[in-house]
Amino acid sequence: MNIRKMNIIETQDYLQFADLFKRSGLELNLDDSGKGPEGFITAWKAVDEAGALVGGCAITRKKGYYVLNDIAVEEELRSTGIGRLLFQTAMTRMLDMGARQVHITAKAPKFFEKYGFRYLEPEDTPDIFGCKNCDQYGKTCKPEFMVFEYSGERLLFIDSCVTTHISRTMRLADHYLEQFIKAHPGVNVETVIVEKGCAEPLDRDDINRRNDLATAGAYDDPMFDYAHQFKRADYVLVGAPYWDCAFPAILKVYIENIVVTGLTFEESETGYSGLCKCKELTYITTAGGPIGDKNLGFDYICGIGEMLGVRSFKEYRAECLDIVGLDHEAIMEQALAVIDAGEQ
Ligand SMILES: Cc1cc2nc3c(=O)[nH]c(=O)nc-3n(C[C@H](O)[C@H](O)[C@H](O)COP(=O)(O)O)c2cc1C
Repeated sequence: MNIRKMNIIETQDYLQFADLFKRSGLELNLDDSGKGPEGFITAWKAVDEAGALVGGCAITRKKGYYVLNDIAVEEELRSTGIGRLLFQTAMTRMLDMGARQVHITAKAPKFFEKYGFRYLEPEDTPDIFGCKNCDQYGKTCKPEFMVFEYSGERLLFIDSCVTTHISRTMRLADHYLEQFIKAHPGVNVETVIVEKGCAEPLDRDDINRRNDLATAGAYDDPMFDYAHQFKRADYVLVGAPYWDCAFPAILKVYIENIVVTGLTFEESETGYSGLCKCKELTYITTAGGPIGDKNLGFDYICGIGEMLGVRSFKEYRAECLDIVGLDHEAIMEQALAVIDAGEQ
């Protein structure tokens, strides 16, 4: 299954997760209504192309504390990125709601540690989890109490790693993110998957509609969702393979959708003035042959980024990965080391 065709959909129907959560070893603690956990805010489901439920997570607020209540993915689809997308969706929503911290009881703490959660002693954990009163606590069930403290900064990962195999570009991007999170504790990471279907090229009707909405100041239209998401990012990571001396065409389509007059940039007498807050945009690519000085994808991204107000740009690459006879793993290792050196 191609996990990138997965949809994440918000839902208030918590009970649909009952079987999935039980199979994943999560307890279903419902409040008096019997419809959801205490302090239930909302939930998201991951569904595959056929509409089947393959993952879910919920967020709650108890005694003023935000909690990532449950997160589960069907066993055969774990480590495919679904849990990460659900997690990021939930974390971004809580940040948008004004959360400063998020608590969890984790059965797979390594996953959360990677994203910047730290361990709490049970006595330092607010009294919001039923766990400690459960007779299985410390016996068959040994959860870790963890907390995440938002710094308020946001990184947007524009993931255009369109591929038929395990993407080498994605491997570099994942590594970059791990280093970045370590160097920027509390950063919120959000991913937009930029593949066919994520956005449409603008035609005459779209441009007319966009102009009408802009004239009316109706920037809350869903047409501008990607532009808002880009505009509020403090950091941007673009991951895109080197295709035809640049990047996959869908990334250009996505860019058409974020470059919006009056929202992400404005026209001035001297040219353009960017309205986005991004301090640094990092571009990661891998190529089958040599790139040399023909990284037209990166050059283009820099041009657009400058127009939108991005302050600085950085690039990491691994090239010649399809040339027979070369040690491709050694090339990748070298690129990973360059990222390590650049992100310390
Ligand atoms: C549609 C397409 C176009 C490509 N164009 C180029 C190219 O212009 N120059 C090049 O060196 N490699 C090109 N490649 C090879 C990819 O850049 C290379 O395999 C890259 O590592 C793929 O990244 P991934 O493993 O993240 O998918 C192309 C590959 C595809 C599928």
